[in-house]
Amino acid sequence: MPALKKQKKDFIVPLTTIGIVFLLVVASLFKTNKTHTSTTLSLPQTEQESDANLIDLPYPNKDSKVSLEKALNNWRSYTSFQDKPLSLNNLSQLLWSAQGVTVDWGGRTVYSSKSAYPLSIYAVTNQVTDIDQGLYKYIPGDLQPAHQLYSLYKADLRQLFIENTKQYSLQHAPLILIITSNTNKIEAYLEAGHATQNLFLQSESLGLGMAEISNIDQDVLKEILQIPEEETIIYLIPVGLPKK
Ligand SMILES: Cc1cc2nc3c(=O)[nH]c(=O)nc-3n(C[C@H](O)[C@H](O)[C@H](O)COP(=O)(O)O)c2cc1C
Repeated sequence: MPALKKQKKDFIVPLTTIGIVFLLVVASLFKTNKTHTSTTLSLPQTEQESDANLIDLPYPNKDSKVSLEKALNNWRSYTSFQDKPLSLNNLSQLLWSAQGVTVDWGGRTVYSSKSAYPLSIYAVTNQVTDIDQGLYKYIPGDLQPAHQLYSLYKADLRQLFIENTKQYSLQHAPLILIITSNTNKIEAYLEAGHATQNLFLQSESLGLGMAEISNIDQDVLKEILQIPEEETIIYLIPVGLPKK
């Protein structure tokens, strides 16, 4: 009997090892095969960097008839939009309100810890007049305002948002702004909040509606939009003429 017991013990170590190895292989296969609700759209690779991709935006309006108090009183989040396009002026004004350069040392329409300005703003132009559909990155400028868009790729991205997001507002917005940060520091999240607050007031002043969306699948959207690895999406902001 003791000999039998020893024989059994001799099997325990190799059997356990084989079991662990098997489980590890299965787990790694599962990880590799894990897919998201992948889109049927295949986006073109980001266009080659060149000045030809830069688009000058219309000069932002620095005066309006809507008082700050009225905008503060009337704004709301809107998640349903009319099936009508926005203008390039609207887009220009919104981007300026969120990150535009306003003073000659590079200060912007929002404050930034240590003037680090860690945020980037992208625009998905689904229905915006005088600009191709596609994904653009806002170029605020450094010491001088540049106030330009950089065209990353031209494509109709609406189907992609329908297939890969669950939020109705993102699936039907004429414009989606995306705020990302190149750092995960808490300051970046605070700053995204400041920029978004400006966007709310600016959109109210323009008669537009918007919502701030954070409940998204970060990895899926980053992959399909080809957002750089080192950036984190903080907010998606659908904008349009509100359905009231
Ligand atoms: C951090 C944060 C994340 C949010 N995420 C979402 C979201 O994923 N989807 C959505 O429809 N609304 C989102 N909202 C909007 C809130 O639901 C909205 O602010 C709330 O309903 C109050 O309405 P109001 O903004 O008109 O005051 C978010 C708001 C905040 C502050």
